[in-house]
Amino acid sequence: VRWAENAASIDLLDQTLLPVTERRILLTTADEVIEAISSLRVRGAPAIGIAGAMGLVTAMAGFAGLPRERFHALLAETADRIVAARPTAVNLAWAVRRTRAAGETAASNDAVIERMRVEATRILDEDRAMCRAIGEHAVILLAPESRVLTQCNAGALATGGIGTALAPIYIAHERGERVRVFAPETRPLLQGSRLTAWELERAGIDVTLLPDSAAGALMANGEVDLVIVGADRIAANGDVANKIGTYSLAVLAAAHNIPFYVAAPTSTLDPATASGASIPIEIRAADEVRRGFGAFTSPPDVPVFAPAFDITPGRFVTAIITERGILRPPYEGAIARLVETSESERQRVAR
Ligand code: MRU
Repeated sequence: VRWAENAASIDLLDQTLLPVTERRILLTTADEVIEAISSLRVRGAPAIGIAGAMGLVTAMAGFAGLPRERFHALLAETADRIVAARPTAVNLAWAVRRTRAAGETAASNDAVIERMRVEATRILDEDRAMCRAIGEHAVILLAPESRVLTQCNAGALATGGIGTALAPIYIAHERGERVRVFAPETRPLLQGSRLTAWELERAGIDVTLLPDSAAGALMANGEVDLVIVGADRIAANGDVANKIGTYSLAVLAAAHNIPFYVAAPTSTLDPATASGASIPIEIRAADEVRRGFGAFTSPPDVPVFAPAFDITPGRFVTAIITERGILRPPYEGAIARLVETSESERQRVAR
């Protein structure tokens, strides 16, 4: 995700077309940004936060000529609409609200837009640095020739940098260490096969694709040393919302005594949400399951259960790796403290 045309538009890779076609698209209006986020042209918690923040700027830039009061009312409404595009990843609300707050006290509409542009750019730059820091902390969890199972795509495509769950893999690879990644397909939208397998193969990293249903057999065969996944939101007690199927992997990992790690920036931690039970889970369209990529693979009208995410209880999470270090259970209290420290440091630096 990057700025285009002097930051008048967002330029991003349309992930719905991968791995067949690599096409970049330009987004300017709120409707374009919302459509791209809800249809997963841009996806992954940090990346939708970045796109949402940048989108608020490009959308509002067209309205700088409005009277101040109308401009601010439209800004509030646009921010709410972008945040509502996908409910589960807290990064989207976090980044959009942070961007809006940065412009709040500016004297003119133009100054609001300029301050928001600076803030959205900062969010993008910080995300790049956060990914690397997560990777540096997490790489110590990998032994030479580790075999890592992941889920969905928590790599470069999902962030402004080298990913979260995949960051330690990239760093180990840079250091010349051999790491092997197992990527479940991640039905129904196949982020594992279309995106994770694609980006790791391009980076020259050893990746093996498997049907989601083969994860248990792989673990039972003794072929997985650790699981590392990303997250869309982590509640105050350590419960983790991540791509549907993550919970099954966590239970399987526990049954096979395999460590289960979650890698995420502090912007994914949500101490205001007490537990996973209060995390809103996005439900996707039934046809993504019935006919994900064309022809029906089911009776056309069969009822479908299609949550985009599930909740992994914190008790299954061996550790949470953030850009500020590794958290181990109990998570209650530790998550809130980490967010507080990170927020106050950010505000101190901003002053
Ligand atoms: O529906 P998606 O593709 O946006 O889901 C993405 C995930 O679940 C990722 O694991 C999560 O957002 C972390 S990305 C660093």
